Amino acid sequence: MGIRFLSTGAGLPEKIITNADLEKIVDTSDEWITERTGIKERRMLEESEATSDIALRAARQAIDTAGLQPDDIDLIVVTTCTPDHLFPSVACLVQKGLGISQKIAFDVSAACSGFLYGLACVEGMIEKGLAKTALLIGADALTRFTDWKDRGTCVLFGDGAGALVIQACEGPGDLLAIHLGSDGDSSHILTIPGGGSKHPLGQIDNVDKYPPFIKMDGKEVFKFAVLRMIESSMTALKKCGKTTDDLKLLIPHQANLRIIDAIAKRLKLSHDKVFRNVHKYGNMSAATTIIALDEAVRSGQLQRGELAELIAFGAGLTWGAAVVRW
Ligand code: COA
Repeated sequence: MGIRFLSTGAGLPEKIITNADLEKIVDTSDEWITERTGIKERRMLEESEATSDIALRAARQAIDTAGLQPDDIDLIVVTTCTPDHLFPSVACLVQKGLGISQKIAFDVSAACSGFLYGLACVEGMIEKGLAKTALLIGADALTRFTDWKDRGTCVLFGDGAGALVIQACEGPGDLLAIHLGSDGDSSHILTIPGGGSKHPLGQIDNVDKYPPFIKMDGKEVFKFAVLRMIESSMTALKKCGKTTDDLKLLIPHQANLRIIDAIAKRLKLSHDKVFRNVHKYGNMSAATTIIALDEAVRSGQLQRGELAELIAFGAGLTWGAAVVRW
């Protein structure tokens, strides 16, 4: 038994924050942000919205595109590191929004690599017979955990959600190979120190020391990202007996255009073989790779039967790659 991919969907907040908007908040410039990251604008939740709202929007679009009804879904997995609440899970809130009951719904957390971790979970659960038709969602709202006084991080992130409908099938299916990795020893280089059980929000007496905002060693993360995504990409391709020549499209995590270009160069991939939309959205964490897949499919850059490889990295540290047939 395998899994096949039926459809994708996206849920993006309407509100756009441009580099010019950021110039008014911190000491930065459109020129610096564009040159160092490739980002021109990003989306941001309205005050009244939360992660589950955009996740639900992505879910509805993916279900409609598949020609299914919400009731056909028997498993919902949401990958997120910015849930509405510590509990209930975003997956249960999406389930409520879709008006379906008696299903399995839970969240997975692996930061920006979350979507690939979620994909492995869904594949395993379908193989074990726990579900037949699953909804895998990547949804994050990192602008809620951004220090708007820190120019080193606040220019990088945006909010978004993407969804993929996955169904059990006979035969090998559309997921050719998946590789995942993590390294807790480097957890400190990308973290949100406050707001969890270690330094609960209500009890933090030193918010400067334990802020509920992203703290990052940008240079270390950059080096790690390039290295690990290349390794993971090659490992996943080798696992299924493919090479980069077999790929129609590489869909890398969209954190920084310079990271994407460095990987493309090392993997010797031409410009048209590497998907890029970081200029429009910045880094949307777990939503990034699935929104990129959704756009690649809708724009015709990836057609039925063609091979793509999704690669990602994130806090944890975590990373992964998946070779898929669309
Ligand atoms: N606007 C203007 N100047 C900025 C700036 C901004 N938004 N952010 C940093 N700078 C300044 C720094 O203060 C520094 O100034 P200094 O030389 O006077 O000290 C200078 O620009 C260079 O900073 P540096 O951190 O060395 O830049 P960089 O080339 O490493 O780029 C990142 C910084 C964050 C863009 C880059 O390291 C990166 O993308 N890392 C990966 C981050 C990532 O992907 N995180 C998510 C993982 S899922």
